[in-house]
Amino acid sequence: MEPEADIKTTAKGFFCMLCNVNLPNQSSLEQHVLGRKHQTLRTVRSTRKKEEEHSVFVSGLKPDTTQLDLVEYFRQFGAVTDVIMDKDKGVFAIVHFGEEAGVEAVLSCPEHRLKGLKLRVKPREKKEFKLILKNKDNDQNLQRAFERLKPDLCQTASVDAQMQHVMERFQLGDNEKKARGLLVQLLQEVFIEFFPDSQVLPFGSSVNTFGVHSCDLDLFLDLDNTKIFQAHAKPEQTGEGTSDDGRSEDSILSDIDLSSASPTEVLELVAVILRRCVPSVHKVNVVAGARLPVVKFHHRELNLHGDITINNRLAVRNTRFLQLCSGVEVRLRPLVFAIRYWAKQKQLAGNPSGAGSLLNNYALTLLVIFYLQNRQPAVLPTVEQLKAMACEEEECVIEGWNCTFPSQPIAVPTSTNTQNLCSLLAGFFTFYAQFDFAGSVISLREGRVLPVADFLGQSKEEEEEEAMEEEQPAKAHQSGLKLGPFNLLDPFELSHNVAGNLTERSRRSFQRECQEGEKYCRSLQYQRKSTKGKTWGLVRLFCPQGNVPQSKSEAGDLSISIPFKLSALPEELRLRLHTAGDAFRQLWFQRVCFAVEGVFQRVLRCGSAPSATTAEDSAVEMESASTSLNTSTASDLTDSWGEPSPPGAASAGGKRRLSSDSDDASPHGKKPRLGRGAKTASPHWVWTQSHKVWAGRRKVRRELIKDRDARPEGSCVEVESQVTAHILDKEEALKDPVEFKVESQMVGGTESTKALLKFKPNRDNEGLFQDFFHFLEVFLPKMVETLLQTEG
Ligand code: UTP
Repeated sequence: MEPEADIKTTAKGFFCMLCNVNLPNQSSLEQHVLGRKHQTLRTVRSTRKKEEEHSVFVSGLKPDTTQLDLVEYFRQFGAVTDVIMDKDKGVFAIVHFGEEAGVEAVLSCPEHRLKGLKLRVKPREKKEFKLILKNKDNDQNLQRAFERLKPDLCQTASVDAQMQHVMERFQLGDNEKKARGLLVQLLQEVFIEFFPDSQVLPFGSSVNTFGVHSCDLDLFLDLDNTKIFQAHAKPEQTGEGTSDDGRSEDSILSDIDLSSASPTEVLELVAVILRRCVPSVHKVNVVAGARLPVVKFHHRELNLHGDITINNRLAVRNTRFLQLCSGVEVRLRPLVFAIRYWAKQKQLAGNPSGAGSLLNNYALTLLVIFYLQNRQPAVLPTVEQLKAMACEEEECVIEGWNCTFPSQPIAVPTSTNTQNLCSLLAGFFTFYAQFDFAGSVISLREGRVLPVADFLGQSKEEEEEEAMEEEQPAKAHQSGLKLGPFNLLDPFELSHNVAGNLTERSRRSFQRECQEGEKYCRSLQYQRKSTKGKTWGLVRLFCPQGNVPQSKSEAGDLSISIPFKLSALPEELRLRLHTAGDAFRQLWFQRVCFAVEGVFQRVLRCGSAPSATTAEDSAVEMESASTSLNTSTASDLTDSWGEPSPPGAASAGGKRRLSSDSDDASPHGKKPRLGRGAKTASPHWVWTQSHKVWAGRRKVRRELIKDRDARPEGSCVEVESQVTAHILDKEEALKDPVEFKVESQMVGGTESTKALLKFKPNRDNEGLFQDFFHFLEVFLPKMVETLLQTEG
């Protein structure tokens, strides 16, 4: 099927039936069709089609028929490339041939017999290829469950009682826990046969007190003792596979050296054992690319998904920590259940396949604990305080991280905070509604936020040196923390950002929903049961997230925000930001403004506008900006953006360069004087555009660089400038150029730092601005990021 056949024209633009996405205009359609997702799905579809055409469906097999038997039999019709059998019942198989001719030959043979039985051989069914949206089913189930929950909640007397109800309704039942326990036992019995002295340890929601029905079963296969066993067994080997304690080293273990094998190699072995030896286990898959490689499986009878990891001792320990917190504070569980349910309903948490940009449940639980640590008085102690409450025998260091805390809740004093659940839940939303996520790092260890600037500059070597000097057995520093729009430090593994997978967009959604939650919790509908039988309390809070919001321009919002994204900045700029201390945001914002200016001026070749008033406004604002700039900051800016501007650029749009020609630069290395209160220079520009520089860019780019996959849009300043030049050269100019104003503003302090650019068309007689803006929504942030990376 050609791409066009997958595209349907709709009232709002286009719809790609293959990928299930709406596309607002022609240029986004063009981008989509050439994009990775669409291309991958097309490839998968054609591979599937080819597979179907090259294989046959065989049934009527004898139970003892093997793959080899089938290969032997069918090779008379053509080369057999694969045979897939259903493992449990062995009643059918799919036989793949190297050539379609093999299929034709099989199907033209009137009768097939194997081991005395007549086989049924059919062509494969031609299934229409469809992107399966697993979430859709989940969402529907979730909504059905919510509909059933609603009446019960409405009849409950108070929000506190509603929260208890939610917990009781969803928590793992005793039987479920027992079944999981039995499965763990079974796995333990099987694994010990192959990996002597190994241990299967459950962690995560099955055992951390926050588990819900059908949550995954997370397991850690601890092979440390097996490694010791293997090391001892080796020199003693007599050729009969017997170790010094008389136990037989199974053939699987003798195939692999655990001390040198990679995690993936070990997991491949674990997968083989699961497939071959554990009844009812199927869908066994090794996921090697994850942060922690894992074997995934499904248990048919228990309808349970499980994950086995082999390098996850810290998770077992942090599970103990969550258990301790639940034991210390009885309000924690109902709060976590309510927040998890809310987050699920609002599509803020839960990444179905493990990967994704939403919060995971562990992160969400940590956010609740951090919030409780910050109540006045505190509801839960900090991790450092817990460490101090532990006795000597409870000391625990894993992989160099200090994981010490008391083993029993009794060792932790009861909180004097008496807030009820209703007010604690409302407080959660207030706490995070205005939280400065990008500018701070949440530390449960210290029970406070740490300035992100502390994490910007230190190199790994410096950290290691410091750690050595301090001669501490446990790591004390946060090396290599992946900073991003949401920074949530693991309480023990201090180099791990538990929310490092979040994008600016998912961070924004989380915060927006917290703001909505805060607003709602102030209303009477939240606090008071309706006497008229209306929905109230948690019911409204849990209402699923509404329909997909309108596009910004449709909603009249012509703004583009560029979030502070540390990971995208070059090393040199990160160091400068680090030296800038509290003023790092301002410094970053100024860089962004230069980059924005660069995009319009150099890349998109926008011209000056004749609007004298706006140009003057701009000049005044820039003046205030340049006086508010710290001198060293200003010099920082000029040296990286110091290249000569294109002719006429100085007057284009009545703009001036933000840094001005300041000559009173302060000595190198000195921190800028800009403090939190310093005035932010917020330039604005008026630009004109006389060509449709947004239309057909992809095609021109492809022609220019020949290899269309070589560089994605917005990844190279040179190429993008050439693309514009080409359009300016070849395409007809607009009769009436578009003129628009761009105002910049730094939004930060109480919110995550971002540069907000507000657009206003001054002249748009041909109605083109909307399209231009759509293009800029994607192009501008990407290009700014590229400019920041390449020109610092
Ligand atoms: P999940 O986020 O899956 O949490 O992490 P969960 O409580 O098990 O919730 P479900 O399974 O989604 O219902 C599982 C465990 O993995 C460890 C923690 O021990 C967590 O309890 N984990 C997860 C980490 O140690 N670090 C992470 O960044 C994420």
